[in-house]
Amino acid sequence: MNIRDKIKYNILGKLLARKGEHVSGEELAHELAISRAAVWKHIQALRAEGYMIESSTNIGYSLASTPDLLTPAAVKAGLKTQIIGRDIQYFKETKSTNIIAREIAGSVEEGTVVIAESQTGGRGRMGRKWISPEGGIWLSIIIKPKIQPLYASRITLLAGVSVAKTVRSYGLPAKIKWPNDVLINGKKVCGILTEIEAEIDLIDFCVVGIGIDANVDTESFPEEIRETSTSLKKELGSEINRVEFVQRLLGEFESLYLKFQKDGFSPILEEWRNMSATIGEWVKITTQARTIYGEAIGVDSEGALVLETGEGKLEKIVAGNCEHLRRP
Ligand code: BTN
Repeated sequence: MNIRDKIKYNILGKLLARKGEHVSGEELAHELAISRAAVWKHIQALRAEGYMIESSTNIGYSLASTPDLLTPAAVKAGLKTQIIGRDIQYFKETKSTNIIAREIAGSVEEGTVVIAESQTGGRGRMGRKWISPEGGIWLSIIIKPKIQPLYASRITLLAGVSVAKTVRSYGLPAKIKWPNDVLINGKKVCGILTEIEAEIDLIDFCVVGIGIDANVDTESFPEEIRETSTSLKKELGSEINRVEFVQRLLGEFESLYLKFQKDGFSPILEEWRNMSATIGEWVKITTQARTIYGEAIGVDSEGALVLETGEGKLEKIVAGNCEHLRRP
């Protein structure tokens, strides 16, 4: 995010904090160390984005209404976290928030979040594309947990739990398909792509990319995923307030992350198991090397799926694509 946008959303933050009141141009100019003419230009730019800002010569600017945009100022106003989201990098459109997050991760604080209104090259798991139109929630969280790369899948599972809990807070019956697709009534509403950079024995950083079909029309999706996808809008019958959703999600993610650091992975795994849509299902697992069929009977302490592939024979799957099948 460039410096001009940073100042613009700083002004918005100040207007949001005093919604209903007037804030003088002089005060804004003084606090941000810019001229009053520059303040005016930023106000014009915010108006062009859909923020209704009233102005009167002597008393200043007052925010009358806000559009449904995930701007840093809007997300931060009312955000209850300490670490996650303390810095938010925002893009109207970008290739992929995961790509941006990986580029900046080395030089930003843990908890920085990259958000885009739309992505032109959204990335899914196993090299797939991720369709990311306006109305969805496309974000990447940068964290720097002091864990070995071997344990990175714990973060992925933790992220799945945070999304499922957030979706459930809207009264929707969210479940998690291994490893971390969030489903509502069997249809996918969210995908998670975790990427790490690491030395042999320690993670440098971890980028948790979360894509949620919030206010999108899945009818416009390509045929191959149309039937298996859903959106929050479709399930709820009306659009959701995406700013509020992101605030709840970052809050859930942070509390699970702090719990993970304090009490270890078992409480998170327990929550994951309780929300699992996969345990007890007949599944087809496709990995780079092979395809395996079996009954999913559990998830081990590392998050690997435990399959019974026949006559009491057990197999552990660390990574792969999972499809739920009809029981033979
Ligand atoms: C999946 O294949 O299920 C994972 C999809 C992950 C999509 C999200 S959207 C935000 C972040 N940026 C990306 O390019 N991908 C992830």
